[in-house]
Amino acid sequence: MSSTSANGRLNEWVDHWADIFAPADIHWCDGTEDEYDHLCGKLIATGSFERLNDEIRPNSYLCLSDPADVARVEDRTFIACENEIDAGPTNHWREPSELKSEMLDLYRGAMTGRTMYVVPFSMGPLGSPIAHIGVQLTDSPYVAVSMRIMTRMGQGALDALGASGGFVPCLHSVGYPLVDAGGNRRDDVPWPCDAENKYISHFPESREIWSYGSGYGGNALLGKKCFALRIASTMARDEGWMAEHMLILGVTPPDGEKKYIAAAFPSACGKTNMAMLIPTLPGWTVETIGDDIAWMKFGDDGQLYAINPEAGFFGVAPGTSDETNANAMETLWGNSIFTNVAKTPEGDIWWEEMTDEAPPRLTDWQGETWTPESDSPAAHPNARFTTPASQCPSIAPEWEDPKGVPISAILFGGRRATNVPLVTEARDWEHGVFLGSIMSSEKTAAAAGKIGQVRFDPFAMLPFMGYNVGDYINHWLEVGKSADASKLPKLFWVNWFRKDENGQFMWPGFGDNSRVLKWVMQRIDGEAAAVDTAIGNVPTLDAIDRSGLDLDDATMEKILDVDDAAWTEELALIEAHFAYIGERLPSQMRNQLGDLESRLGV
Ligand code: GTP
Ligand code: SPV
Ligand code: MN
Repeated sequence: MSSTSANGRLNEWVDHWADIFAPADIHWCDGTEDEYDHLCGKLIATGSFERLNDEIRPNSYLCLSDPADVARVEDRTFIACENEIDAGPTNHWREPSELKSEMLDLYRGAMTGRTMYVVPFSMGPLGSPIAHIGVQLTDSPYVAVSMRIMTRMGQGALDALGASGGFVPCLHSVGYPLVDAGGNRRDDVPWPCDAENKYISHFPESREIWSYGSGYGGNALLGKKCFALRIASTMARDEGWMAEHMLILGVTPPDGEKKYIAAAFPSACGKTNMAMLIPTLPGWTVETIGDDIAWMKFGDDGQLYAINPEAGFFGVAPGTSDETNANAMETLWGNSIFTNVAKTPEGDIWWEEMTDEAPPRLTDWQGETWTPESDSPAAHPNARFTTPASQCPSIAPEWEDPKGVPISAILFGGRRATNVPLVTEARDWEHGVFLGSIMSSEKTAAAAGKIGQVRFDPFAMLPFMGYNVGDYINHWLEVGKSADASKLPKLFWVNWFRKDENGQFMWPGFGDNSRVLKWVMQRIDGEAAAVDTAIGNVPTLDAIDRSGLDLDDATMEKILDVDDAAWTEELALIEAHFAYIGERLPSQMRNQLGDLESRLGV
């Protein structure tokens, strides 16, 4: 063993699992640059990484995954707790001891011939009172280097843990031991996984994570969705705080005061883009605090404060360009890992919509020659960049402030081609919780499965709640009750994705979303005009600043339209959604639905 920590419980846990995983050796990650370079070198040697052209993209790597391991696998994601009802209808429940024994069979000898990395990490700034420590055991050096970008990983996390601190234990194996079933040595492959046998398991009662079979994203970087959302959401419920799938940004109007806004959008629905938004409204500034996860707690002053528990961005590559997200493009200048993107002949990266015209010849994400005539995309739709948040030009100076930033508004949004207007202000906290509970969105490539299907995704947390969705909604109500109503963030619904009869997006989106931010900021201050509709307060036709934007009244009307007939039709879907949530749905939500019905005259 290369070293141990000062923490006896951690050392024992590592020894225990080393016996089961049976790796050839153990490496405790210190998080240094030397170690990062060494591990990237190992990944090059196994064909997992290719170094990009240092003249164009310094210190950066291309990684192509197994085509059977490209996204989160929701149908293989389990919440294992004593009583099935506590996992609720939206999670796949498993009996904990049964699941553990099933996975132990897979874990035994799973690291044969490999190195086991001990990856200590802090979610949240090192040593901050709201940060939490995790330790991930993994046989994937790709995971180890990615965790160095995405979290505060290494010796600093071990120091913060100290001799007696607690940590969330995270187990991970790609499930590809270097021996075959007959016990004969086999060679490694560039992207080892056990595609047919993935398990992303959570034990919220004992706060443990067991992952097997996948090396990709949220399945494998266990600090992210598994810890910072699924386990943290149960910790937050128990301790009176919130762990949410939200971006955090700071927005400063011309001659105005900076305010902070959080926004919950489902996977691949625009969080990274909004977090790094460059306002088209002159004089406005947006700064980035986080692009995926917010941990929020009340401060002594009664305000809700948010921190970004992450240190990097694991962002959707396709669609990212100088036009749509120049800040992301600049963040990616170097020191980044690109997974499942295409490669140019010069040794740089490319993905769909990165440039107006595709290069004439590329190597696609499966390593094949690609030309603009090819039938399939050059980059996988869920191709991702992994890059340090500190490199982002729009990063707020206070982004690592352990105190967090006070949140003035929370936006909920999804991809809805119809019905949902550009922006809607909730009447009050409880009504906002209702809007969050009934939000829906078209499924994207971020998770395996059929794309485009509209599904309810309450609070953009459908795949990330570590417990019963009814209890989760109730937690939001409790948070509202425990607070001084005047200090609670105002809640809004947004939708950048409404389409016209030709299937085209009607709202320009991206930097022009600053126009919606302006209205939100004005509403926080009790200004700006709104009409009281069946679903909430929607801007009047001229309340959204359209200066410098070529968008006619007729289109704007359609973007803001609340069609009572269409909402009356949607009622049946909401009824069914609430019936599905079942016995733990808070009664206030049924009352809110009744209120919506009477506003619609039903
Ligand atoms: P996860 O990392 O999966 O949680 O996703 P995310 O919410 O951070 O999504 P992201 O910002 O990466 O957006 C993904 C897709 O949405 C990209 O294809 C973007 O081009 C598109 N998108 C983002 N903002 C807008 C917008 O305002 N309008 C339109 N039409 N598309 C947008
Ligand atoms: C998401 O799917 O919401 C992501 C990417 O942010 S992953 O880390 O793979 O979950
Ligand atoms: Mn996400």
